[in-house]
Amino acid sequence: MTRKGIILAGGTGSRLYPITMGASKQLLPIYDKPMIYYPLSVLMLAGIREIAIITTPEDQPQFRRLLGDGSQWGLSFAFIEQPRPEGLAQAYLLARDFLAGAPSAMVLGDNIFFGHGLTEVLAAAMARPEGTIFGYRVSDPERYGVLEFDPDGRARAIVEKPAAPPSRYAVTGLYFLDGAAPERAAEIRPSARGELEIADLLSGYLAEGALTVEIMGRGYAWLDTGTQGSLLDAGNFVRTLQQRQGLQTGCPEEIAYRASWIDRNQLFALCECHGQSAYAQHLQELLRD
Ligand code: TTP
Repeated sequence: MTRKGIILAGGTGSRLYPITMGASKQLLPIYDKPMIYYPLSVLMLAGIREIAIITTPEDQPQFRRLLGDGSQWGLSFAFIEQPRPEGLAQAYLLARDFLAGAPSAMVLGDNIFFGHGLTEVLAAAMARPEGTIFGYRVSDPERYGVLEFDPDGRARAIVEKPAAPPSRYAVTGLYFLDGAAPERAAEIRPSARGELEIADLLSGYLAEGALTVEIMGRGYAWLDTGTQGSLLDAGNFVRTLQQRQGLQTGCPEEIAYRASWIDRNQLFALCECHGQSAYAQHLQELLRD
């Protein structure tokens, strides 16, 4: 079965109040694009074209306005509501009908990935029948789900926001899981903070040896954008990279065009609807290349 994608873009974004009192966090700008373009690009780079976008009920109209039905990029979007932010693992319950037994790749709507070789890493995860998650060394593991390793260096569990982290490796917000994820998520009970924890779902797979943990090395950037500082840092990172290289990161039009999911005429039409923006200029350059 073809792997389907999920972008989890609900939540309250309370750490960004008052900004997120009027707009979804995942629609805020990361330099020159809406935040959700970056996680969407990761799924596209993996070759995934059927994608569910999970949002709060209130924010769904704005996401629809921005993203349409996906056909402009050769994709197909399904929009699913998450009435309350009851945890990352709840996404698998909400997307159960959409997935219809297919394996999935879920990405958090506020996570940004960048690095040489990312496409190959994604291709390997796509090809693996069992699931894949990614560990990334961070200076502040207590803010994340953290990998716990056994003496042989094999990951054996994930601990959510531990006061005493068992390692420096956080689990990133990109999860490739098999078709059983919705059934397994249905078995999980809410944690003390009232959420269905992704750490519990993943720890179940790990305990059975049914999940590959790939470490993303220091050549990768994994950024999350949940606080004022990290939001600004992510924007500056993208700006620096793009200005230096003259290349875009997180541009769905470019990925779709290079993958031949859209043709030159379609790219031209997309170019036209971006007005006089710098983004439009980049699309024009793509057409000239
Ligand atoms: P978080 O950053 O943990 O939560 P949040 O976005 O609501 O922000 P805050 O902590 O400031 O209140 O969420 C990580 C990502 O997952 C983010 O993109 C929102 C999304 N999310 C959901 O869509 N549903 C949920 O139930 C949760 C917990 C998160």
